[in-house]
Amino acid sequence: MSRLVVVSNRVADPRKTAAGGLAVALGEVLNNSGGLWFGWSGKLAEGDAEPQLNVQQAGPVTLATVDLDREDYEAYYVGYSNGVLWPVFHYRLDLADFDAGYIEGYRRVNQMFARRLLPMLQPDDVIWVHDYHLIPLAAELRALGCTQRIGYFLHIPLPPPLILAAIPGHDWLVKGLCSYDVVGFQSEADHEHFCDYIQAEAKAQPAGEGRWRVFNRTIHAGAYPIGIDVQEFRGVTEAPEAAEMYERMKREYSRRKLLVGVDRLDYSKGLPQRMRAFRELLRRYPETRQSATLIQIASPSREDVSAYTDILHELESLCGSINGNYGELDWMPVRYMHRTVARARLPGLYRASRVALVTPLRDGMNLVAKEFIAAQDPEDPGVLVLSRFAGAAEQLKEALLVNPYDTEGTAAAIHLALQMPLEERRERHQSLLATLTRYDVHWWCDSFLQTLGQAEAEETGTP
Ligand code: G6P
Repeated sequence: MSRLVVVSNRVADPRKTAAGGLAVALGEVLNNSGGLWFGWSGKLAEGDAEPQLNVQQAGPVTLATVDLDREDYEAYYVGYSNGVLWPVFHYRLDLADFDAGYIEGYRRVNQMFARRLLPMLQPDDVIWVHDYHLIPLAAELRALGCTQRIGYFLHIPLPPPLILAAIPGHDWLVKGLCSYDVVGFQSEADHEHFCDYIQAEAKAQPAGEGRWRVFNRTIHAGAYPIGIDVQEFRGVTEAPEAAEMYERMKREYSRRKLLVGVDRLDYSKGLPQRMRAFRELLRRYPETRQSATLIQIASPSREDVSAYTDILHELESLCGSINGNYGELDWMPVRYMHRTVARARLPGLYRASRVALVTPLRDGMNLVAKEFIAAQDPEDPGVLVLSRFAGAAEQLKEALLVNPYDTEGTAAAIHLALQMPLEERRERHQSLLATLTRYDVHWWCDSFLQTLGQAEAEETGTP
């Protein structure tokens, strides 16, 4: 059997609890199959020498990481990945900073990754590269003679061609994508954007069954929505840390209905819009005052990127004004926390909540939506209010779907969720859980790797 080699910017020890959808999902996949996980250590290199490769064994998984020097970190991670690709791929051209130096650093780090990874590869390996940090990696590996199959999965949205084409060098990026054998997206919408782009800009020809002839190669493209490990997550929900959290929350909020939001503090998550909708709920439906409390956890993220500091200030000021205007001596409408909560405790919070607010302006998938459903008590489940602009909305049809830009509409949906009768909550939850169980993380991994396994090994050279 082939060995699985996963490459992603973030690498996390799969035996330890980690935060963040991508790292958790990849940890689960690799824990199952064993293999090699290669990426950035998350640390900055000291001194001028080329950073050492750090290799350690974590159960069946070999973790191989490299440090980045400050210049590469600034250009590749802060600059190009999070200052250009992240905003544009989330439809935020206004936040993109197209500094010409960034793309050089991005390319340099991808070349360095290819150079460091190549000697570790075995002839039968199947290589699976993840996310927007590493789009050119296959082309760089191929340029060094790598002939193994290489798949790519984009965890974030892919915007329509006209938005993508605003990036200087967009043709180079997409050509990079076409150096993979299989390119996977979170949703059908993202997949369509890719197909539209390669047809319009690269004269791609369909070759049947999801395949395309483009840049003199045959590639496969498709939607493979990522899932969670439902069994594992239900296990975490019943474990002592989550159970204790659940009891505490139930005790503390015995007279109130709890709403919960858990996000990285990111402008794509629609946090100010969510707060405005919650304020509208309190204004328009006075019976929700005193009876509903919103717990919003916003974990610190990418603090070296300036757009993240701006969103922090906006959110803090909104939370402050809602509490100032509506709060009582014995009730604060919003409990806002700018910190990370251990993954082991989150399911307890989810289970104790009547409503989850997952209302991003754009999101590749959003695994909080899925974890919230998995954590519920099927006899008395909570309700998911979900943005129609999250990839998860293509699958989770029985959630209450909202347009996060529509403050009144979102407030009305939250109100509906708070009042939803038990029978309807159970029915919706049952269907949602069935979808989650069918399309779990193992389905995601197996279906992607099956396509990659069937893809003909690279035979036509680099684009
Ligand atoms: C998103 C991205 C991941 C990333 C995560 C955390 O989920 O798709 O690639 O790892 O955010 O962001 P960070 O910049 O801290 O890795």
